[in-house]
Amino acid sequence: MITNNQQGRLYLVGVGPGDPELMTCKAVRILEQVGVWIAPKAKKNGNSSALQIAAAQVGVAGKSVLEMRFPMIKVHLGREQATEVVQAWQEVAEMVWTHLDKGADVAFPTLGDPTLYSTAFYLLDALQEKCPEIRVTIVPGITAMAACSARVGSPLGIGDDVVSIVPAAFNDDRLRTILTTFDAVVLMKVFRKMNRIVPLLDELGLIDKAVLIERCGMDDQRIYRNIRETLDRELHYFSTLLIRKKVITG
Ligand SMILES: C[S@@+](CC[C@H](N)C(=O)[O-])C[C@H]1O[C@@H](n2cnc3c(N)ncnc32)[C@H](O)[C@@H]1O
Repeated sequence: MITNNQQGRLYLVGVGPGDPELMTCKAVRILEQVGVWIAPKAKKNGNSSALQIAAAQVGVAGKSVLEMRFPMIKVHLGREQATEVVQAWQEVAEMVWTHLDKGADVAFPTLGDPTLYSTAFYLLDALQEKCPEIRVTIVPGITAMAACSARVGSPLGIGDDVVSIVPAAFNDDRLRTILTTFDAVVLMKVFRKMNRIVPLLDELGLIDKAVLIERCGMDDQRIYRNIRETLDRELHYFSTLLIRKKVITG
């Protein structure tokens, strides 16, 4: 809703999962047009992956670019969040607001798609608390799971498949229920959990139905078709496990 034409517009821009060629034309156009970019990063002294992807496709010369930290602490919806997390969201919201209030547009590049487990909506929520009528445009992006599926040549879902997307390795009981209930499961943020997940998949007879894609579309991408190889291995945070039970024909 546009209520104040002087206020800048916030663009939550999905930049895809890593390969800059997987950015949409719309994401590129908007990032070219917007002069202020505020990008999320997980570690204080680390870099923003979303920013790196965006900058590989769109020049940052002359832009005001700022990386701000969103701590990697589990968020349980409906519960009170850790103070550190809330403070971080509010700090980013304050910074974004400073620009919007002066009439400048702000782009927030985010990994993959903004609607799928992205910090973008925490920022939007914090901003809407400040100003419920904030002007915002959400630019969808290619998700990591879509890129991973394409990379291994297997559909995420097809026919009557029911697919579950799991944002983290829940406890074994919850995971067991999901794995037995759904035809296909996408497990994200598995990088430190494989020593628990591999035995569970073994127990359920699903070990040969799983494939792990690490840093899909990036220079050092790795695919584990034998996921036992991930045991005791330090995987990158950008690791996704795809599990499909059914074959297409036969
Ligand atoms: C916070 S979620 C962000 C998801 C993102 N918004 C999307 O649309 O895909 C981060 C998780 O996405 C997955 N991921 C992101 N980029 C990836 C990549 N290049 N290769 C494999 N998995 C990736 C990993 O499971 C990672 O732990």
